[in-house]
Amino acid sequence: MLRDGYNRTIRDLRVSLTDRCNFRCFYCLPHGEPAWAKKETLLTFEEIAKLADIFVSLGIEKLRLTGGEPLIRRDVPVLVQKLAALKPQLAEIALTTNGFDFVRHADALMDAGLDRVTFSLDSVRRDRFEEITGVDALERVVESIKYAKQIGLDPIKINAVIVRGRNDDEIVDLARFAREHGVAFRYIEYMPLDSGHGWDRSQVVSGREIRDAIDAEFPLVLKETSRGSGTSWRYVFADGSPGEIGIIAPVTEMFCGQCSRIRLTADGQIRTCLFSNREHDLRGVLRSGATDNEIADFIRSVVLEKEPRHFINDPAFSQPERTMSFIGG
Ligand code: GTP
Ligand code: 5AD
Ligand code: SF4
Repeated sequence: MLRDGYNRTIRDLRVSLTDRCNFRCFYCLPHGEPAWAKKETLLTFEEIAKLADIFVSLGIEKLRLTGGEPLIRRDVPVLVQKLAALKPQLAEIALTTNGFDFVRHADALMDAGLDRVTFSLDSVRRDRFEEITGVDALERVVESIKYAKQIGLDPIKINAVIVRGRNDDEIVDLARFAREHGVAFRYIEYMPLDSGHGWDRSQVVSGREIRDAIDAEFPLVLKETSRGSGTSWRYVFADGSPGEIGIIAPVTEMFCGQCSRIRLTADGQIRTCLFSNREHDLRGVLRSGATDNEIADFIRSVVLEKEPRHFINDPAFSQPERTMSFIGG
């Protein structure tokens, strides 16, 4: 088992496949062409599969492929198939995508062993969607969500980052979408992880405010009285409508005490927290020819250094250098 220095068990590994993205969401990657990772620094699928095998032997149960936009990497189903060989100890393989190119890959991903998919969708208005992402692709993303549902990739979750003055007027409309499409819409407080360093506290819409706005239109009932090691408070609709609401409030209701996650960046660095100021060079260890046991020891020692919590609310907080596009959600 992977235990950190605060007695938290780490069961959830998020692997970023690329730092690149075909969208430019303002809360993540607002500026043109960042300094992308060099190709030779990216972990190959063989390397990811080998590391995943070691992570699973150490107790990782859930693996999520993220980015950037993971489907920009070629042949992601080939990777999923390699990872699926780690089941059943590996209980779940999931993907977080912006949905732009999902339909094209969906069948192959599912055949390869993908269990679940999470989409990002911050607006259901065409012009607004383009303002936020830089791409006129609302319809395409909605088609992806419908297709995922059609082929049975349930439960489907959709992430929406709510930013005051940008899309907070759509909180109720997004909940309506959740009802109409029978999906889980998860509202996320805006965190200081944008490459433009434009985050400002006044733009954070608190989870409570979001929940109250939805509840006033569509009364909600709490589904579980604990978040467990998950990130969200989960609600269902009091009128029995399909769909679910999740509230993820890392800024105003920190959930670090129950954190079960670590992350592997596309260039093979372990990040023990979204807000780490330090990374651990797993790629270097792997490429130096270390044995599986040595790699496992390295991972164990890194996990022991996992931060107790984020420091967003401390006066001395400084934003990590790497942005969400590099770290993965
Ligand atoms: P599941 O756990 O399978 O539901 O995975 P998921 O990626 O669909 O959702 P999750 O709740 O793990 O992540 C959704 C969003 O919550 C991410 O995109 C981040 O914005 C935020 N988030 C996830 N994990 C963390 C975390 O460890 N710390 C903080 N501060 N925010 C997180
Ligand atoms: N704050 C909160 N969530 C973010 N995401 C990206 N940037 C931020 C941010 N600054 C989330 C998006 C996406 C996931 C990968 O990360 O919702 O779905
Ligand atoms: Fe875990 Fe860091 Fe997120 Fe807190 S901020 S929940 S410690 S990853």
